[in-house]
Amino acid sequence: MCDHEVKTNCFEYIDSQMPPVPLELNVNGESIYELIDPAMTLLDFLRVSLKLFGTKEGCREGECGACTVIMNGRAVPSCLILAIEAQGADIITVEGLSKNGELSILQQEFIKEDGLQCGFCTPGMLMSAKALLDRNPNPTVDEVKEAIAGNLCRCTGYKSIINAILSAAKREREALSNG
Ligand code: FES
Ligand code: FES
Repeated sequence: MCDHEVKTNCFEYIDSQMPPVPLELNVNGESIYELIDPAMTLLDFLRVSLKLFGTKEGCREGECGACTVIMNGRAVPSCLILAIEAQGADIITVEGLSKNGELSILQQEFIKEDGLQCGFCTPGMLMSAKALLDRNPNPTVDEVKEAIAGNLCRCTGYKSIINAILSAAKREREALSNG
């Protein structure tokens, strides 16, 4: 339980006051160099330093999946990773999914299949789904369920989310075979 004063937001980032350390990494195709608080999580680095608010802050305990990003090809909870552990890494956040203002096929299918309501879980769901489809373009229902097992949704139930991912997989395969 948080012991902050009532007026303080428990999720507000508080600098540890330790000497800053250099961090170099790539986020959504862009090279980033910053001096950071060594105690800062990757989630805070993305939201507080880079202002990439698409990555959501839920439990901060690795339980909800709202903060999921792709790090070196794997879906990871950014609240459990120190930013400094991402030294040299390639990170993709939900902001990196659309290209030239056009939503990715996966994003389009989430909308079409009603895979979101409040949308809070959606960035994390999308990143877990993208990591799956990047390594397995033709997943089974069970493989989709396993890939999003760490992502909680309180709104839609999971059926429409699973349908959206399967349908995106199909469209991506078709797009690939049509050149
Ligand atoms: S905020 Fe990271 S898993 Fe919940
Ligand atoms: S759409 Fe609201 S939590 Fe998933």
